[in-house]
Amino acid sequence: MREKKTVFSGAQPTGSLTLGNYIGALQNWKELEKDHNCLYCIVDLHSLTVRQDPKEFHKVSLSFLAQYLASGLNPEKNIIFFQSHVPQHVELSWILGCITYVGELKRMTQFKDKSGQNRDNVNSGLFTYPVLMAADILLYKTDLVPVGEDQKQHLELTRDIATRFNNLYGETFSVPKMYTPKIGARIMSLQEPTKKMSKSDENANATILLMDSEDSIMKKIKRAVTDSENIIAYRDEQPGIKNLITIYSSLTGLSVEEVVSKYEGKGYGVFKTDTAEIVIEFLRPFKKSYEDYMNNLDFIEKVYETGAKRAYELAENTMTLVRKRMGMV
Ligand code: AMP
Ligand code: TRP
Repeated sequence: MREKKTVFSGAQPTGSLTLGNYIGALQNWKELEKDHNCLYCIVDLHSLTVRQDPKEFHKVSLSFLAQYLASGLNPEKNIIFFQSHVPQHVELSWILGCITYVGELKRMTQFKDKSGQNRDNVNSGLFTYPVLMAADILLYKTDLVPVGEDQKQHLELTRDIATRFNNLYGETFSVPKMYTPKIGARIMSLQEPTKKMSKSDENANATILLMDSEDSIMKKIKRAVTDSENIIAYRDEQPGIKNLITIYSSLTGLSVEEVVSKYEGKGYGVFKTDTAEIVIEFLRPFKKSYEDYMNNLDFIEKVYETGAKRAYELAENTMTLVRKRMGMV
């Protein structure tokens, strides 16, 4: 029995991290680092399913590492690294692709959405994206994967692939479990609160970026779409208000009931201003810390080099076993 469980998660280095990324994923990453062996990856190869400008991509990739660190992830406790620095991810992805059915991949809603949005670039990487994600996870015999709600289908496929491999070739992989926050697994768009908040939303008012200025956070939250009920209640009929309550509760640690009762009889104006202030206060140290890391690229380099070395060793252990199990000479 291994004593500590293994945790793996990642985000694509495109655009900039959102408050949804933080509440749905990174907040849990930080919590789990206390008593798990954690690997937090910047999945740069996944980003290539959409065309990237090389110069910009390089910059954004480094900036993501700084954003991980500024979110409070400890680079000594956790293995923080770039996916492309550990070639076993791609090797395992090929092998797992050979036991994944086209029918399974065709059912993935993210593929359907993304191929619908990028009609001129429906490349095969977009289609096999979930197999590479399964390889990321299984390569480290991961037990827990802290992600937001939108990754549920990919995680179920990962579990199916792991079980299939184990049945075909003998017990090799742990079958990982998804780990989502009790509330906040799906932070919604501020403009269309029935859609998830997304890095790639074209409407800048819909999304709060961790790096947004204080002014713009205040404006965006004040402009957030709500309803005409004029009562602060946590219910599906009021998705805009429900979303703001979720954000408020996630960042303060107050329960939903406590937030609701605090604002009983108060108007949306006050509630929005207070919520904006909470977000602003919360992000102030993040931004300061982000600037410090970006001014210290030598440190960033040390973090990802050490991370890659540590990940490589673990990955190679698993691959040695996988190759042997499959009969490779
Ligand atoms: P991505 O932005 O797709 O690279 O996602 C990185 C992580 O953030 C994944 O674990 C997602 O599930 C999570 N995530 C993305 N958007 C949201 C959101 N609006 N609410 C909660 N979690 C999210
Ligand atoms: N597909 C995930 C997303 O878009 C990113 C990702 C890639 C990931 N590999 C992973 C998340 C492994 C968790 C574990 O959010």
